[in-house]
Amino acid sequence: MGNLVRKYNIPGPRYTSYPTVPYWNIDTFSGKAWKATIKRSFDESNATEGISLYIHLPFCEQMCTFCGCHKRITKRHEVEKPYISTLLKEWSLYCELFDTKPKIKELHLGGGTPTFFSPDHLKVLINGIFRFAEKAENYEFSFEGHPNNTTKTHLQMLFDLGFRRVSFGVQDYNDTVQKAIHRIQSFEKVRDVTEWSREIGFTSVGHDLIFGLPHQTLEHVKDTILKTKLLMPDRLAFYSYAHVPWLKGNGQRGYNDKDLPTAEEKRNQYESGKALLAEVGYHEIGMDHFALESDSLYIAMVSGKLHRNFMGYTASKTQLMIGLGVSSIGDSWYSFAQNVKSLEEYEHLVGNNIIPIYRGHILTDEDQFIRRHILNLMCRFESSWDQESENSELLEQILTRLREMEKDELVEISVNKVRVTEKGRPFIRNICMAFDVLLHRKAPETRLFSMTI
Ligand SMILES: C[S@@+](CC[C@H](N)C(=O)[O-])C[C@H]1O[C@@H](n2cnc3c(N)ncnc32)[C@H](O)[C@@H]1O
Ligand code: SF4
Repeated sequence: MGNLVRKYNIPGPRYTSYPTVPYWNIDTFSGKAWKATIKRSFDESNATEGISLYIHLPFCEQMCTFCGCHKRITKRHEVEKPYISTLLKEWSLYCELFDTKPKIKELHLGGGTPTFFSPDHLKVLINGIFRFAEKAENYEFSFEGHPNNTTKTHLQMLFDLGFRRVSFGVQDYNDTVQKAIHRIQSFEKVRDVTEWSREIGFTSVGHDLIFGLPHQTLEHVKDTILKTKLLMPDRLAFYSYAHVPWLKGNGQRGYNDKDLPTAEEKRNQYESGKALLAEVGYHEIGMDHFALESDSLYIAMVSGKLHRNFMGYTASKTQLMIGLGVSSIGDSWYSFAQNVKSLEEYEHLVGNNIIPIYRGHILTDEDQFIRRHILNLMCRFESSWDQESENSELLEQILTRLREMEKDELVEISVNKVRVTEKGRPFIRNICMAFDVLLHRKAPETRLFSMTI
């Protein structure tokens, strides 16, 4: 495994979209085109499958120095009310495009820290969203909770509003690691919020863990997983720490590269963690995720319904995902668009009745072909290309790259199919990169992506 890690540990995307954001063609994109594809997708899918809504709530009271998310650090809770008004105004700008009421199938509150907001303000937000919308059948509403500030009142309020899934940021329980990442959070805190969620009736409680953090050792990872086993969350994200200190607004500067585990140590942490999780019945779901057999993510995986978008893995596919709030990304299936990242600009644009996107991409036929394969690999660890002889030249280039990986036993290739082997699973990002023709046509000139291992 050591040689493979050295060979394949290169910068690479995590493929929450294809094309990946740095490869979006902003020249062919426009706000007008974005609205047209939103409307098209809505008309094609709202009545049958409903739509997804991602709402970004960017505030956090403290900066965790490992964090790569888009956030704004403040202790001033006066920011809550105006931000919610702007979100609702932005939502109304989208609803004006539609002839019928949107049916919301998936709604996710992400951040930043959604539980920075008071329960009453979250209620205003959700009720405001449903002034223009209705719930789809079997809707799934979820949110990210910070164990240090999620209260019973938050949980009860969100449950009453229809939320049944929550994920808590845990990362690692060790004191040294917690100090290095500036996130002090006891096991008891995590235990309390997990137990309250269950008592209130949440059906899926998730924990986010990370391996590869500064000063984190194999023992720390094992100990965190042993503690996690005491609480048996329904779902687990077991992320590889993404070291991207060059990104603006990110605090990954409180430690040096030498404080981080090596690629091989990281891979050991992952393999040991995975083995410990398997012992108690967790199944690996695509990349970075684990779930118990009773969880909807596992059920979606075995029934072939697993999907991946900017929210990560989801249990059902909707063609249209609208992103509200600073930095949010929307996906109309035919195009992507991202909102401005500055809070002031966001409020200014929405205040002037402008959907606050600043960049996007219209998918070409080739993009749609590649996206299908990358989604298949990420969600099912295999893909086939029966009826696509028109793309034979493209496929030949992809196959040339895959054959190199076949020699390393990471994939098995048959006439019209590629399957990722057990050995190949940790290298899934590299395998998807074999399909990423845009990346191969033009290698990035600056550092864009975290390392694949
Ligand atoms: C928006 S945060 C979670 C919600 C809440 N703010 C909290 O911290 O508990 C989402 C998750 O992204 C993951 N994450 C953030 N930065 C990361 C990084 N650099 N590498 C890997 N995972 C990261 C963490 O596991 C974190 O819990
Ligand atoms: S990990 Fe969560 S609380 Fe910490 S800075 Fe990131 S978004 Fe905020």
